[in-house]
Amino acid sequence: MPLENHNNDAFRRKFKYYKSKKPKPSLSEVLILNDDGNNVDTVSFIPKEVAEDKRAAVLGLSSTLTWKVYSFKQHPGLLMIRNPFTPLGQRYWSRRCLEEYPKKPNKRNIDIEVDVQDWWSECFKLQECDKILQKKLRWTTLGYHHNWDTKVYTDENRSPFPEDLSELSNVVAGYLGFSGYRAQAAIVNYYHMDSTLSPHTDHSEVNLQAPLLSFSFGQSAIFLIGGTDKSIDPTAILLNSGDILVMSEQARLCYHAVPKILPASNIPWNHTEEVNLKHSLDAKFKCITNVNQIVTEMNRNLDSTQWNRFNNYISESRINMNVRQVLKGRQNTLKDLVDDT
Ligand code: OGA
Ligand code: MN
Repeated sequence: MPLENHNNDAFRRKFKYYKSKKPKPSLSEVLILNDDGNNVDTVSFIPKEVAEDKRAAVLGLSSTLTWKVYSFKQHPGLLMIRNPFTPLGQRYWSRRCLEEYPKKPNKRNIDIEVDVQDWWSECFKLQECDKILQKKLRWTTLGYHHNWDTKVYTDENRSPFPEDLSELSNVVAGYLGFSGYRAQAAIVNYYHMDSTLSPHTDHSEVNLQAPLLSFSFGQSAIFLIGGTDKSIDPTAILLNSGDILVMSEQARLCYHAVPKILPASNIPWNHTEEVNLKHSLDAKFKCITNVNQIVTEMNRNLDSTQWNRFNNYISESRINMNVRQVLKGRQNTLKDLVDDT
């Protein structure tokens, strides 16, 4: 019998298929999670018994009564929450990823080439936007900085994790039953229409029981997810602006990739009519330290001249916030030893 070697990288074959510009891939096998729930294992709602988290509204999340959570027969542990953000919530998080998170001391891919403290301001230093500098940013790391060469986190290579993103992650994980989630590392990825992300697994975290949370904004993407080795044929899923993908349990260590960015067919960050944030100032939201600042920044984006620059960016790019808990339950640093039981 001839050796069937070509089949041991089914993942890479599919990656190449969707990445190809000529010929263009067919999208007929890409899972598009519509309301009819075809092809997915289950569509569920957050049970009514689950109390609304008081922090959710101020963080730009809609009521969980409207949330749709998908799970997949072929991929136990993989969950997809279809856009649970309000339009202003989408604007807030996209803007944070552009204006705030790429500031030093956070690390960026551009650090080896240019010495800028505040990348976004630098792009607009002159009247015209510096598109060349703007396009150079491909990633920013927060908290425990991902080491792209060694893939090892160290206590020395760590900056404060943004409080707002930490609260958001804790709220979302909590709704799905992962209580006490602590966001300690994140990669913010910036994709242009021709960008891709190669097949990989994320295995550097000490705590692999905690889920990985992946938030998408702006343009859409084809996301591939397979198994723990690359011989497993991956599933292609369409990710749209606002979608949250959760890799937990068996899916936590599975190969995944982004072979293609696609133009968004719906622009949820511009559906601003129904928004009214006044209630967010209610005293009951004081459980978030920076509540007033968050509300102010949410409302700034109602002003279209303020929002315009960010709108231009996400109209031709995709942003992905990829959040991880690094440490185990009682660890505060990597040096703290805890037993595994
Ligand atoms: C990552 C990652 C996926 C995405 O940053 O590790 O897998 O959807 N990102 O951009
Ligand atoms: Mn990844």
